[in-house]
Order: sequence, then structure tokens, then C-alpha cells
Amino acid sequence: MTAGPLRARASEAFFGRRHGKTIKPLQAEALRANLPRYRLDLGTEAPEDLSSLFARPVSAVRLEIGFGGGEHLLAGARAEPGCGFIGVEPFVNGMARVMAALDEAPLDNLRVYDDDATRLLDWLPAASLHRVDLLYPDPWPKRKHWKRRFVSAKNLDRIARVLASGGEFRFASDIDTYVNWTLLHCRAHPLFKWLASRPADWEAPYPGWPGTRYEAKAVREGRRPAYLRFARR
Ligand SMILES: C[S@@+](CC[C@H](N)C(=O)[O-])C[C@H]1O[C@@H](n2cnc3c(N)ncnc32)[C@H](O)[C@@H]1O
Repeated sequence: MTAGPLRARASEAFFGRRHGKTIKPLQAEALRANLPRYRLDLGTEAPEDLSSLFARPVSAVRLEIGFGGGEHLLAGARAEPGCGFIGVEPFVNGMARVMAALDEAPLDNLRVYDDDATRLLDWLPAASLHRVDLLYPDPWPKRKHWKRRFVSAKNLDRIARVLASGGEFRFASDIDTYVNWTLLHCRAHPLFKWLASRPADWEAPYPGWPGTRYEAKAVREGRRPAYLRFARR
């Protein structure tokens, strides 16, 4: 493939920054040393059975899109060693932070991808995941930018394709218009069913929730998050 189409494809759903402030030397070294070990190679065909991506046996595989500093991803992977985790984050500083944490305590049930999650979703086999987490996606609060939001009919099709029947899609956000946006998009999608019957179902964090950096900032600034769960029919 030529560089042109690849660049165009890579930015389909990623509109953020790839680089932040200068990465600390130890994190930069961890990124250089560890990323090749953990990074998925989308140039090869995806295995039919995703458990073969991991160095230890796993009974199910979970995906986190836009893991930021990796707090939730790492906590999950450490708490559930029998589950395989795939984390996606194009922001290099976030990836460096996770690679540094893995330097201290490696994980054999974790793989990562450092580009637009839509590429990974299209690479994965159908019905190969039991859960997809989209936690505090870039909110794009201005109406003229709403079309940049990761939740769209097309991306819900992608998520529905990779989720096994009975699997779960989680979406957390502190931005009311994005929560409503996601509820409307999922209600319009034939393969998602909102799992809520009372306010506590979306007001309370998910069980075992470790929090994320973005969430901590939102709460400090007085915003109330919503924690949505949808079943893949
Ligand atoms: C607001 S931050 C939240 C980070 C983290 N989930 C948290 O709660 O702290 C959104 C993250 O999504 C990532 N992101 C944006 N578009 C993405 C895409 N198309 N694929 C994967 N990650 C994406 C950004 O780089 C950013 O780190």
C-alpha cells in the first residue's frame, strides 16, 4: 500500500494529538524497548482464535479504545490474568506511560495498537471479543465537531461485528450531549440493547472501577459521569 492511502485511512476517526510534552527519558526508553513486543502487527492476518495473540492461555478477549494513560487497562489486565486485553492509543505519551509500567511489571495477557482504533476493529475477526470499552472518548462538545465523535453508526457497526453475541459495549463520558448522542445512536442500532432500568445503572461506576485520569479531571471540574452498558444482541 502506498503512503497516501494509508495516511488517509489512518485518520478516519482520530482527530487528536499524537504527541504531547517531551516524553521522560525512562518512558522513551521503555517505549523503544517494549512496544515491539506488545504491539499488534496489522500487516499480518488476524488469527481466527485471538487467544493465540497472548503468551498465556486466555478465555476471552477485551478491547479498550483510547486508553489514555492506561489506568483502567492496566488495572483490568492485572486483576484478570485469565482474560486477554487489547488496548488502543495513538497518543504517544499515553503509550509511553503504559510501556514504562510494563517495564516494572510485564503482562503476558496484554497487547496494544498505536493507531486509529477503526483500523484494529476492521482487522479483528467477527465475534472475537466479549467486551469493548470506550471510556471518556474525545468529547468534541461543539456541534460543528460532533461528526468527529467516535460513536457513529459506522463505528457501532464495527463494534457490533467484532463483539460476540451477548458481549458488552461500555461507554463512559462526563459530557451530557455525548451521552445522549450515544444513547440515541445505540437505540437506533438493531444490535445494541441498553442495559439499564434505573438511574443507579448509569450513575454508579462499573464494578471494580479504578477511575481514569480524564475522569478525575472531569469530577474535579464538577461534571458528573455516566457509565453506559449495552448488550450485543
Ligand atoms: C479524552 S481522552 C480519555 C483517555 C482515557 N480513556 C481516560 O479516561 O483517561 C480520549 C483518548 O482517546 C484517544 N483516541 C481518540 N481517537 C481515537 C481513535 N480513533 N482510536 C483510538 N484512540 C483514540 C485519544 O488519543 C485520547 O487519549
